[in-house]
Amino acid sequence: MILDVQDLLVRFPGVTAVDGVSLSVAENECFALVGESGCGKTTLARTVLGLQRPDGGTVAIAGTPLAGLRGRALRRLRAQVQIVFQNPYAALNPRMTAGRLVDEPLRLAHPDAGRDDRRRRAEELFDAVGLTGTHRSRYPHELSGGQCQRVAIARALAVGPRLLVLDEPTSALDVSVQAQILNLLDRLRRTRGLSYLLISHDLAVVRHLADRVGVMRAGRLVEQGPSAQLLDAPQHPYTKALLDAMPGRGRAALLADTIEAS
Ligand SMILES: Nc1ncnc2c1ncn2[C@@H]1O[C@H](COP(=O)(O)OP(=O)(O)OP(=O)(O)O)[C@@H](O)[C@H]1O
Ligand SMILES: [Mg+2]
Repeated sequence: MILDVQDLLVRFPGVTAVDGVSLSVAENECFALVGESGCGKTTLARTVLGLQRPDGGTVAIAGTPLAGLRGRALRRLRAQVQIVFQNPYAALNPRMTAGRLVDEPLRLAHPDAGRDDRRRRAEELFDAVGLTGTHRSRYPHELSGGQCQRVAIARALAVGPRLLVLDEPTSALDVSVQAQILNLLDRLRRTRGLSYLLISHDLAVVRHLADRVGVMRAGRLVEQGPSAQLLDAPQHPYTKALLDAMPGRGRAALLADTIEAS
């Protein structure tokens, strides 16, 4: 298992944001978390990233528990898990070119690498996310939303993670661009052997990317299972109600067509 979460508990004053959640994500697997706003998805993700301390339970990355690690060992383990946010414009420093934005995490990950080595790695990353040399000298405001998200993905990949947390990775993009980014994520997962913890409000996105789905409600995981089974034959009444209310139902077909074509 690349990610193993057991009995996770996260409390804030007045609210138990994550309430006894256990889940795991296997190598090369995409696990999607769905649930209404405020049910604890992002808090769970932040805890997995080591940005939020749990009040109970454990998070293990590739078999190593996060708790108790300090300094170098903690940084090394945290590099295994990277996040891609919903809004790439907000996530990227507007004063840095795409080239510098990708070079920055490369410096951190490879402090001893020389200029040429980093340049080569950056070129490989730009290529992997479908950007060309002409994009490297551009600032975020000179790139489209989809291109910005590609830069954000390249930054995440720069430190060599095994698990990407994707928190609504396409919901700020329009539909045709969404399909391209979903294709890219699919391809990267296959070619780089990545695992994904996906958070999405969009059924079309979940259907396209996820192998398994977990349904959260008020901090608890009420149901989890293989995505086809859970999406088509939900067992829990809450899951059924949630799926009926989620957008993307009609768009699933449209998105699938766009993905086939591109
Ligand atoms: N830093 C914090 N301090 C206090 N309460 C918080 C904090 N972060 C989250 N919460 C609360 O924890 C609960 C879960 O929030 P969280 O952001 O994890 O939900 P979510 O499922 O990601 O929602 P959304 O779909 O709207 O992004 C909410 O009640 C929220 O108000
Ligand atoms: Mg959230």
